[in-house]
Amino acid sequence: MSKPRSTVKELLNSSGGQQQIRVCGWVRSVRRGKDVAFIALNDGSCQGSLQIVVAASLLQAPAMTALGTGACIAVQGDLVASPAAGQSWELQADRLELLGEVDATYPLQKKRHTFEYLRSIAHLRPRANTFGAVFRMRSALSFAVHQFFHERGFMYVHTPIITTNDCEGAGEMFRVTTLDATNPPMTDDQVDWAQDFFGNRAGLTVSGQLQGELFAMAFADIYTFGPTFRAENSNTSRHASEFWMIEPEMAFADLARNCEVAEEFFRYLVTYALEHCRDELAFFNERIAQGLIDRLEQLVDAPFHRVTYSEAIRLLEQSGRTFEFPAAWGQDLQSEHERYLTEEIFAGPVFVTDYPQQIKAFYMRLNDDNKTVAAMDLLVPRVGEIIGGSQREERLEVLERRMVEHGVDPAGLDWYLDIRRWGGCHHAGFGLGFERLLMYLTGMENIRDVIPFPRTPGNARF
Ligand code: 4AD
Ligand code: MG
Repeated sequence: MSKPRSTVKELLNSSGGQQQIRVCGWVRSVRRGKDVAFIALNDGSCQGSLQIVVAASLLQAPAMTALGTGACIAVQGDLVASPAAGQSWELQADRLELLGEVDATYPLQKKRHTFEYLRSIAHLRPRANTFGAVFRMRSALSFAVHQFFHERGFMYVHTPIITTNDCEGAGEMFRVTTLDATNPPMTDDQVDWAQDFFGNRAGLTVSGQLQGELFAMAFADIYTFGPTFRAENSNTSRHASEFWMIEPEMAFADLARNCEVAEEFFRYLVTYALEHCRDELAFFNERIAQGLIDRLEQLVDAPFHRVTYSEAIRLLEQSGRTFEFPAAWGQDLQSEHERYLTEEIFAGPVFVTDYPQQIKAFYMRLNDDNKTVAAMDLLVPRVGEIIGGSQREERLEVLERRMVEHGVDPAGLDWYLDIRRWGGCHHAGFGLGFERLLMYLTGMENIRDVIPFPRTPGNARF
């Protein structure tokens, strides 16, 4: 049996002096001299690589002569103080074993590749420094999400992936079916979904909210964190067809409370990243987005602004700025409007509240003006909308009326209406797009580069 493996992270953070350490990983680079060679070894445990010093006696070993960038090796030796700048420790190799060789066609030879190219080799890009940093942060922030809610007594609920209702009412669901696509059963020229697997038209969920609301009516404070799917054909840098969303739902909460929790949550996640992902943030700050760390540090202390939609439209109209689509009351905010509000007018995060009822989903609570709903979107610089939420319509008659107005069949959502019939109460919640959060925290500009294997129109290869 070989010795247990130490990670590069443990070794770089250790106080040194350990003898006969075993470490395994992937070669980032090899520099060969006459009497000595240096290998930069990375095992994904941290941003940094461990320097392996290979003495003359090992230079002619077969494992060493075949060694190239990208190879997988196991090394054993003593950890000693490093004379080189920028690292405390290096490993003096006594034994070197080649676990997985590479040849000259290995695509990650070069130091710098375009992100576009790296997307085409998504099976290998986790070994590139940028993606090491992205995916370590993704993991750390997932944990932070759970910690935030756990500390506040929220219950984690697994809402279903397969569903027969389209929560956002936008008709952007992927179909889930076992019917024969070339010859489905028909009645009166229509596909007979009653004969399908679930006895109904089913699809992949666009949001766990509706089921989340059911659980909030039993456990008060709950959250979901899972994959959601949208078949919208928008090929932007901020939309993915499969993305992860965090959706808390709180009984006895109104819109103001909803914004408070969203603000606290967002600040918590930024603070967590600053405290736990220092090396990754330093990397992004240097290579991807200058000034990133300053911006994140400022956000932790800065106030989050609040403005109503009507006021936001007035500010946009008065800005003197020419937009591709002029802002007008009753129209959805375009991303150029959102960016202008958060980047220019407020120069920081801003909640836009109380949108016109016709541009928002049926479940949002109608305000007393009968024109707007108790909705909120959190906009942040560079990303735009990062959170969307609302107080929910708890009044049965109003909800039924709004469903009909929005073309949603109340009969298909009888269970959703039941919680307004029996023991309902006012409640609110929101959804944070996890990839948009990661874009904000890393400075990465394309959503395809913060999710391991992106699904976008025309792309689900890996
Ligand atoms: O604003 P959305 O559509 O809201 C909902 O789905 C509600 N059911 C949430 C709730 O109240 N529980 O989506 C919420 C967030 C957006 O603000 C955005 O960050 C992200 O999800 N999002 C997307 N992220 C990546 N790709 C897409 N196609 C996205 N669509 C929404
Ligand atoms: Mg939204």
